[in-house]
Amino acid sequence: MPALVLLGAQWGDEGKGKATDLLGGSVDYVVRYQGGNNAGHTVVVGDQKYALHLLPSGILSPGCTPVIGNGVVVDPSVLLSELSGLNERGVDTSKLLISGNAHIITPYNVTVDKVTERFLGKRKIGTTGRGIGPTYADKINRVGIRVQDLYDESILTQKVEAALDIKNQVLTKLYNRRAIAVDQVVSELLTYADKLAPYVADTVLVLNKALEDDKVVLFEGGQGTLLDIDHGTYPFVTSSNPTAGGACTGSGVGPTKISRVIGILKAYTTRVGAGPFPTELFDEDGAALRRIGGERGVTTGRDRRCGWFDAVIARYATRVNGLTDFFLTKLDVLTGWEQIPVCVAYEIDGKRVEELPYSQTDFHHAKPVYENLPGWSEDISQAKTFADLPKNAQAYVKALEEMSGAPISAIGVGPGRDETIEINSFL
Ligand code: IMP
Repeated sequence: MPALVLLGAQWGDEGKGKATDLLGGSVDYVVRYQGGNNAGHTVVVGDQKYALHLLPSGILSPGCTPVIGNGVVVDPSVLLSELSGLNERGVDTSKLLISGNAHIITPYNVTVDKVTERFLGKRKIGTTGRGIGPTYADKINRVGIRVQDLYDESILTQKVEAALDIKNQVLTKLYNRRAIAVDQVVSELLTYADKLAPYVADTVLVLNKALEDDKVVLFEGGQGTLLDIDHGTYPFVTSSNPTAGGACTGSGVGPTKISRVIGILKAYTTRVGAGPFPTELFDEDGAALRRIGGERGVTTGRDRRCGWFDAVIARYATRVNGLTDFFLTKLDVLTGWEQIPVCVAYEIDGKRVEELPYSQTDFHHAKPVYENLPGWSEDISQAKTFADLPKNAQAYVKALEEMSGAPISAIGVGPGRDETIEINSFL
């Protein structure tokens, strides 16, 4: 039975929440495999709008078991408040499963994230300030705190001591901040233990058994391909692997089990935080995309940088993720432009380049080579089939598909669950 991966094909914020939620009704498990509460999904169900940061979108589908995999970093206070917020609105969250191996974002990781960014000044990454990078750094440095550590006070204390040993030196001597007390951190973390206990599980076993039992499992990526620590625009990236391989390491499900990899692709491009972005617009068109597309971060409230569609990036996403399909989102935002420029290649130091350069310097020099596609003015939000779209909108979708290297199997024409044109079924 299928295990599907659904991930962002650009710099995140492509509308993954909508796509996951759309499939949520037909899948048995929705799994987050990386990132933390730096992600932000907006899901519209009927007249209700939900903003999720850490929880998988499947939490809104009653038949679905949402899973936070081992590759995720969990801020317990954020998780608990997200859960109680949903409970207050009548959403049943009792099926949630959290991997005991997931790492915990401790209060000192949040502090370190913020002070480091401040210290970097104009060289800053523009992180979400949620402690994501420092928590993954602790994981790799083998001084991380895992969810399972909450259930052994002595181990927890030793681990917090080890983690704070060097950090306190850095905080006090380099950043001129106060040292963080071990017992304070430990007692705060222990307050979460009982509250999280009903959800903690061996999620690797659960998911593999589910697949053996022919259940449908959907892996939901946070952020996007170009924010991947290995394959993104390093160092302006997040500290985990949103790309398809991350679904395996972040969940404990082997690659032979993955049957489909769907890239969510916005009909134009956005990015938050610092870093290169060849098709970025600084003019009225960019402001219009931001205004019409509601391009403001769900998690941070920051305005997103906006630009035209970049086919070089889409092709790259197809390659590094082994994409089998695209889900094109927000096509409706482009309604009203007479001509829509699409970046088909880059010009780098006078040469035309068709593929994303591996060199950071080259990518910083990349200038978009545009092709203008004819726009449309008709309202497309009611379109239910591909044939309902105006001819020029159809041609825009077809052109993107041809340039991007994988079939576009669904098209978002509005924020609602039902404002989607399904071309090929995902299941
Ligand atoms: P961090 O993930 O908070 O460490 O931030 C690293 C970079 O990833 C920054 O440029 C953030 O703006 C960006 N980022 C993190 N999460 C998201 C997301 O969900 N959407 C878009 N950008 C993100």
